Amino acid sequence: MSTTAPVFSLEADSISKSFESGAVSIQVLRRFSVSVRPAELTLVAGPSGCGKSTLLSILSGLQAADEGRVRALGQELSGENSRTLERFRLKHTGFVFQGFNLFSALTALEQVELPLGYMGLSRADIRQRARQALDEVGIGHRGSMRPAQLSGGEKQRVAIARALAKRPQLLFADEPTSALDAVSGQTVIDLLRRIAVDHGTTVLCVSHDPRLIQRADRVLAMEDGVINRDWRPGDTGSRPGMHSDDHTGALPFQGDRR
Ligand SMILES: Nc1ncnc2c1ncn2[C@@H]1O[C@H](COP(=O)(O)OP(=O)(O)O)[C@@H](O)[C@H]1O
Ligand SMILES: [Mg+2]
Repeated sequence: MSTTAPVFSLEADSISKSFESGAVSIQVLRRFSVSVRPAELTLVAGPSGCGKSTLLSILSGLQAADEGRVRALGQELSGENSRTLERFRLKHTGFVFQGFNLFSALTALEQVELPLGYMGLSRADIRQRARQALDEVGIGHRGSMRPAQLSGGEKQRVAIARALAKRPQLLFADEPTSALDAVSGQTVIDLLRRIAVDHGTTVLCVSHDPRLIQRADRVLAMEDGVINRDWRPGDTGSRPGMHSDDHTGALPFQGDRR
């Protein structure tokens, strides 16, 4: 990364978001702040319905917050029009979802090539990048297979390769292991972490699966729209919630923080 790169690659500053459902309004996020660093896997963990997917979609520019500011790669996303946000996502982001989102008629190689076609790359470049990405996630030998011929873990690796081939600075994963058995789930989360470390990518993963916690560089525990713990599982000697340089603007959790 260049020396002018921002310390935080994703920043939400006091964002709020609510949804109207008939006569009731549900406030999902209330003056919520968080900062995420590049070159590591940040996991937002919390129970279903606590607002993880909403947060991910706001931080990636898929959805707008009602209030507050969002910066990604130092660029202000809040207030931008949908075309600008679309261009930002095309250029800088990759997404991985629980349900893989693969096209049943396409081979693994074609799935990975598809988004590269929108990036203005040459045919040869597209092919080379797609092959390289499939190799990197360990399924280069499955390039001619269609989804029906692949296991769940392999399908998710195709989806990761599709995101990776864009060489995005930001990689967002929403419940990427939820449809997978334990072993495939671990392969997937370890792969996401390796991408962060090897490429300097900011990887933000949201999940309700507590088994992922030990494999993340940093964990933000979310409940009812608030982050109440922020810690690095790999740090020895530091208790959860005692990490000194966090930057979440979070509320203290059960007196766990000085
Ligand atoms: N588009 C929407 N319209 C209405 N309610 C929504 C919408 N998106 C999310 N919600 C509600 O917001 C809350 C948080 O949802 P979500 O962000 O999907 O949580 P999580 O990903 O942690 O399960 C839930 O109560 C959900 O029903
Ligand atoms: Mg969700």
